[in-house]
Amino acid sequence: MKKATVAFLLAMAMAFAGCGAGEEEVKNADANGDGGNEQTSGASTEENSDAASGGDVLADGVLNVGTNAEFPPFEFVGDNGEPDGFDIALIQAIGEQMGVDVTVENMEFDSLVASIGSKIDVAIAGMTITDERKNMVDFSDEYYEAVQYVIVPSDSEIASAEDLEGKNIGVQLGTTGDFIVEDIKDATAAQYNKAVDAVNDLRNGRVDAVIVDKNPAQVFGEQFKDEIKLFDGESPEFGFEKEYYAIALPKGDEKLMKSINDALAALKEDGTFDELVKQYIEN
Ligand code: ARG
Repeated sequence: MKKATVAFLLAMAMAFAGCGAGEEEVKNADANGDGGNEQTSGASTEENSDAASGGDVLADGVLNVGTNAEFPPFEFVGDNGEPDGFDIALIQAIGEQMGVDVTVENMEFDSLVASIGSKIDVAIAGMTITDERKNMVDFSDEYYEAVQYVIVPSDSEIASAEDLEGKNIGVQLGTTGDFIVEDIKDATAAQYNKAVDAVNDLRNGRVDAVIVDKNPAQVFGEQFKDEIKLFDGESPEFGFEKEYYAIALPKGDEKLMKSINDALAALKEDGTFDELVKQYIEN
């Protein structure tokens, strides 16, 4: 979408929200971190029913996005201290398509789902669609296929799911890797807030293996080439299931769901999505 069109849509959105003073004011208005809903109406009961009926988390012209920037190449903290990565670029492009401004808040992965609809509007965080999460949030159309990888020290004898039994396995807290460990016989999950800390403890010999998504595993594998090796969890030796990433949305907000899915489809159609894959993931 052309810049001018975006600016126009943004101006429209703001005028609609009764806010003409630009981004600064919108951000300040959300200083209490409730997603900026105070701009749409006064009564909180009304806000709630608004949200449930697909009402208007976007009325302030801003999509407040939560992420956990500890998951390269999907999200990491860039040189300027701000979240960067494939997901961040994707949600910015989606916001542009939707004609809204995007703010990104870096939070712990484990608190993202519970923050949707209050602290943040949506979450993009290489988040796998799971039935359990679906009890709390809705998911957009999927945008990326993934699987868990197993990382072990180069000289480790672990080479199959059976070998993981009884082991101490590093994971990022609340991730699908964490959930997999729950199902491994006699294994203990060593839970970290950052996957990289799990990998560092693997290098220090404090855990026997790390289970983390494919692409971050490959980034770590490259970073610590001489010390660790990777197993594709989809191999018959491990037999983990395929996973699919999607944007997590408040439950029942059909309007938001539709505009995000439409934006995603448009970006796939016009080649932007593939460009971002090349730029961030396949580089
Ligand atoms: N795909 C995994 C999950 O959904 C891990 C995601 C971790 N993402 C992150 N940004 N730290 O549980």
